[in-house]
Amino acid sequence: MNIVIIGTGYVGLPSGVGFAKLGHNVVCVDIDENKINSLKEGKLLIYENNLEQAFLEVLNKNLIFSTSYSFINEADIVILAVGTPQSNDSEKADLKYIFTATNEICKNLKDKNKYFILAIKSTVPVGTGDKIEQIIHEVNFNIDVASLPEFLREGYALEDFYNPDRVVIGSNSYKASKILKKLYSHIDNDKILITSRKSAELIKYASNSFLAMKIHFINEIADFCEKSGANISDVALGIGLDSRIGSKFLNAGPGYGGSCFPKDTLAMLGMAKEFGIDISLVEATINGNNDRFKKIVNNIKDILKDINAPKIGILGLAFKNGTDDCRQSPAIKIVKELITNYQNINVYDPKAINNAKSILNESVNYTNSIYECAKECDLLVVLTEWDEFKDIDFSKLKGRVKVKKIYDTRNIIDLNEAKKYDFDVINIGVYRK
Ligand code: UDX
Repeated sequence: MNIVIIGTGYVGLPSGVGFAKLGHNVVCVDIDENKINSLKEGKLLIYENNLEQAFLEVLNKNLIFSTSYSFINEADIVILAVGTPQSNDSEKADLKYIFTATNEICKNLKDKNKYFILAIKSTVPVGTGDKIEQIIHEVNFNIDVASLPEFLREGYALEDFYNPDRVVIGSNSYKASKILKKLYSHIDNDKILITSRKSAELIKYASNSFLAMKIHFINEIADFCEKSGANISDVALGIGLDSRIGSKFLNAGPGYGGSCFPKDTLAMLGMAKEFGIDISLVEATINGNNDRFKKIVNNIKDILKDINAPKIGILGLAFKNGTDDCRQSPAIKIVKELITNYQNINVYDPKAINNAKSILNESVNYTNSIYECAKECDLLVVLTEWDEFKDIDFSKLKGRVKVKKIYDTRNIIDLNEAKKYDFDVINIGVYRK
């Protein structure tokens, strides 16, 4: 099939590479000329596990990049994968990129009778498909507008592309559903769910809100453990073994971040308000997560309260492992808060240093390894769950730090190894006298 993908971010690009790898002809379109030029030259501007190799395999064969919308005239499917950030002045998603792209499609359409499917992959409020359909049908009544929500996780984008838990196709047209189902013929039939367009739009928001709620829940249970003497690892395991609850997304930590959960939960709340519905669980999740980083900062202050002008080593800045993305990263929020209290902060992240630099500027010392970061530190704080931190070489670490203390907000440090070298590890959700 001929596929045009509009938007080459963390969703559009891996999807484009994935469809090209499956043999489709893919054109990725973006208004950002620098980005497109760089992609044409084979340079990715984002870090995503395993993406680069797959991208280079299809580049300039059946995957091309352009700033021109004219390719829609040969398309069977046009996929909208532009950003829907949070509005500056409300909880709602800002749909300006969606409507700009829709207008560009209308402007560039040569044949007013052409058929293609306009599939909306961007996360959009319930009812957006109807609005886009209205705009498109003013110039072409044949085009089918569908919702094709994307569930891929950063860091696992290609893995999720080839092996998703499910594919949701939201379409009110039998023809469009059939073609989109064919597009996903590499996925088992029982994982493909065809719904109305509005249901598909809501499935995306409801899924992200539920997952965010699950994380906030386990973080509250971790607080409970810290006060009561229970241990969060055991409790999470114990509740997760109930198949109705499930063991995934029960890792307590510094709170959720990234480009999706924070904005999607807010947008969900905004939508609910518009419909006059009370979704207090989502509201409590948003508020709880907003406060989470402050709690971590207070814990750090408490740990350091007896040390004069302490030096802190921060391990991890990305919002999670496997990505260089620092958007809404709890690690960044924590470091920003720490800067106002402490002068000497080293930071290290295996992939996110460049992105972090554009936010934190010269306020911290950037380092190139765990061991450089640890130099002369009074406390090391693990904020992102990188595998590299699970494998810390304590024999190498012990001579570098001033005080052998680690605050592990992701509970990933090997406690037995740490103990061998007399490191004191403070965990999330574990009682301390
Ligand atoms: C999420 C959804 O998972 C994905 O389906 C959707 O398409 C986009 O949003 P992503 O933003 O890539 O994906 O991150 P995800 O892996 O879901 O993690 C989100 C945040 O939750 C991260 O900050 C992560 O560290 C945190 N998290 C996740 C926890 O704190 N504990 C957990 O148990 C799981």
